[in-house]
Amino acid sequence: MQTASANIPNHVAIIMDGNGRWAKQRGLPRLEGHRRGVETVRAIIDAARELGIRYLTLYALSTENLQRPPDEVSALMGLLEHFLRRETKVLIKNRVRLRTIGHIEALPAGPCRELQHAIEATRLFTDWNLVLALNYGSRTELVDAARAYAAAVAAGREQPGDASWSTFSRYLYTADIPDPDLLIRTSGETRLSNFLLMQCAYAEMIFSPLLWPDFSKAELAAAVEEYQRRERRFGLTGEQLKTGAAPRPPADTP
Ligand code: IPE
Ligand code: IPE
Ligand code: MG
Repeated sequence: MQTASANIPNHVAIIMDGNGRWAKQRGLPRLEGHRRGVETVRAIIDAARELGIRYLTLYALSTENLQRPPDEVSALMGLLEHFLRRETKVLIKNRVRLRTIGHIEALPAGPCRELQHAIEATRLFTDWNLVLALNYGSRTELVDAARAYAAAVAAGREQPGDASWSTFSRYLYTADIPDPDLLIRTSGETRLSNFLLMQCAYAEMIFSPLLWPDFSKAELAAAVEEYQRRERRFGLTGEQLKTGAAPRPPADTP
């Protein structure tokens, strides 16, 4: 089936889960699963662009993942550095802007340097956006935002009485990134694991049983097709939508 070009989700966010189980099923070390996972990342970045998805966010490392055994964490950091070294020129060629959300400064110097280089080299591109969530946690993001907001209040730049979602959300890491329309998690787990909890307030969610190394362009296209069959009501009734009411995500506190 050909994916319809109308109503393509503007922003797809993916929780890339299942690398470890993919390896275990084959009697391989977990690192081999992560290695194969990186191949899927490459394929999905291309596929998203081909499908017309303007924003793709990939959950690559949670704040909690840093508590995994040190050899797994350092292997993941090595893969990230290697990926960026190879992939930055592809991002530039395809005019994809790379951004990150999360505390990347806490990552080792090697991947940090490659990230900064890729972010700088792609910062003027606007059509395609790749957001890597690295050392990201939604609760840390909210606390960081509250701190920054409190500092702005203390400096007289914000009036707490005027606070609304549209003013407060400017302090999130995702300030200039639209909310995800579609959230996909692979590996059959049906939880959010501290990922974009606020931003996914009205995201459509699809949970795929496939392990991340087995995910593919065809699966992404199938998820987009399922998204296109859904009715997003944003709190309105189906009848209201039929009579032309424009449903909108909640921008402000009532
Ligand atoms: C996802 O795969 C990758 C990261 C969290 C870095 P996992 O490593 O969580 O794989 P499983 O869940 O153990 O199969
Ligand atoms: C979520 O997967 C984080 C990433 C995919 C980067 P986890 O494997 O860490 O999540 P839990 O522990 O199963 O909730
Ligand atoms: Mg996992």
